[in-house]
Amino acid sequence: MILEDCKIINLPKIADPRGNLTFVESSRHIPFEIKRVYYLYDVPGGETRGGHAHKNLQQLIISMSGSFDVVLDDGLEKKTVSLNRSYQGLYLPSMMWRDLVNFSSGSVCMVLASEYYDEADYYRDYDEFLKAVRKGINNNASSIS
Ligand code: TYD
Repeated sequence: MILEDCKIINLPKIADPRGNLTFVESSRHIPFEIKRVYYLYDVPGGETRGGHAHKNLQQLIISMSGSFDVVLDDGLEKKTVSLNRSYQGLYLPSMMWRDLVNFSSGSVCMVLASEYYDEADYYRDYDEFLKAVRKGINNNASSIS
């Protein structure tokens, strides 16, 4: 997977003087069926979450409140995306290393995930992730030639 596959998805927003409403429909607004939802909250200032990549899992990361930055790394290059709007989600395909940093006080990060929790789906070692990325690139190159 490459960094360009990570994209901001603007979710429907029903603006209302009584307060705004946003909704997400599985496989309609995002490119996968939602099997799991989890959220990060009470993150102490200066802490980093993430620090891993997934073999198969796809995710949509939404800042429900406050702000934080997602540092993306496809093994070749890095990019930082700031999230601070409840109607915007950052789509992450599989094989994307991510670090979540700069959480503002009181921020809440919600993640919609394409699979149930499975520790075997994680790369938690960066060198192992890089090896897998390079193997994938080499395999693709040999299948093209
Ligand atoms: P982890 O995915 O490393 O958190 P983050 O990427 O947000 O920093 O998960 C932290 C711990 O929580 C780890 O022990 C696995 C556990 N966990 C579950 O049991 N179920 C889940 O759905 C998730 C996301 C994590």
